[in-house]
Amino acid sequence: MGYTMCRHCTPYNASKKVTPMAQQLPQPSTAQLARSEQLMSVIHTLIHQAHGWLPFDAYMNAALYTPRLGYYASETSPFSALAADGDFITAPLLSPEFGACIAEQALEVFERVGVAQILEVGAGTGRLAADILTHLHNRGVQVNYAILELSGTLRAQQQATLADAGVHLSHQVRWLDALPEDYEGFIIGNEVLDAMPVELIGVQAGQWFERGVTADAQGLEYVDRPTDKRLTMPKEWLTALEDSGATYVSETHCQQLAFIESLGACLKKGVVLMLDYGFPAHEFYHPQRNTGTLMCHIQHVAHDDALYCPGVQDITAHVNFSALKSPRNLTAIGYVNQANFLINCGLLELLTQLPEEHMRVAANRAHKLISEAEMGELFKAMAWAKGLAFEEDDTLQGFTRGNRLLSL
Ligand SMILES: C[S@@+](CC[C@H](N)C(=O)[O-])C[C@H]1O[C@@H](n2cnc3c(N)ncnc32)[C@H](O)[C@@H]1O
Repeated sequence: MGYTMCRHCTPYNASKKVTPMAQQLPQPSTAQLARSEQLMSVIHTLIHQAHGWLPFDAYMNAALYTPRLGYYASETSPFSALAADGDFITAPLLSPEFGACIAEQALEVFERVGVAQILEVGAGTGRLAADILTHLHNRGVQVNYAILELSGTLRAQQQATLADAGVHLSHQVRWLDALPEDYEGFIIGNEVLDAMPVELIGVQAGQWFERGVTADAQGLEYVDRPTDKRLTMPKEWLTALEDSGATYVSETHCQQLAFIESLGACLKKGVVLMLDYGFPAHEFYHPQRNTGTLMCHIQHVAHDDALYCPGVQDITAHVNFSALKSPRNLTAIGYVNQANFLINCGLLELLTQLPEEHMRVAANRAHKLISEAEMGELFKAMAWAKGLAFEEDDTLQGFTRGNRLLSL
């Protein structure tokens, strides 16, 4: 029987020595191996074009998004509760109350913006869209729902999920190929930022380096090169790391900030809400987190060998929320852990409204979303606004209790 693995689950081996571990990792199918081999030849070309050394973020981009071959661009959907059918699950697949809470938050945004529109980026299986639309339908609200999805396979899966959920839902949804202009409404994304390519930057014996990927007859391997780049950690930590002689590697997230700013650029008036796992910079770059947060998932096994079977496994990194607090074109208005966000949005009231025979099962599902030991603390919700007046201390419903924006 398979077991469920959320994408934040800790690798069973935190070592960066990846080769021996490859023996223990789940074996991809013959078709997956054939696709990975095709992707390998694309990666070899990229390495060659980059004069033998490909920065890690370019490798991660190729592994996840190369058309037809990358992990999020292939014909296989990565989402399933069963190891035989997929690699991980996300909050919308755990509990419909997750979407219902976001729908409650949407109602307030619609009121502030004056229009009932949602744009979801990276919509996965379409489960979140279906749950939000169901909840809004039950509340008597019609909404204009758009999805921006890079993957054709996932777009088809989203269409099937919405069709299963009811025609009245799928009729309200349209799929976009690019961000719209002058958008007014609520832009949302769950576990999208962590799927964006990161740079690997580190220090060893006082020398800063960037990690990249090279290839030889045996396959891919990491090679570190000197760099002027630094991690944005407190200066005293940088100095201590340089002086300690120890090896420290972590991630920088330029693409995440650029993505948030691209949402800001398309928004005329409204709110952006992102939910994802991560920390503020002082936790992210804590000296004890000396191997960073890079993680891979294959058939519900989490590990840290990002060079294993490119295109067949997920590669992800936690979000440094401090790096997202001041985008050029948006104002950050809230940052809370997922437990507070869902409870502020009325999770407990939603559970008590369920028929008694469903309440216990629903409460068990919701427990995983809010328990500190599961997703409640590691996952965060962060919101930014544009074109809306938020007075000091004014924020959205989801951020009223436990707002830690000032800690970023
Ligand atoms: C881990 S999945 C999460 C899916 C879904 N939101 C959920 O919670 O189940 C990450 C998603 O982000 C999408 N994604 C990554 N970069 C993106 C971008 N620049 N624009 C839109 N979607 C993106 C991927 O294609 C993928 O569908």
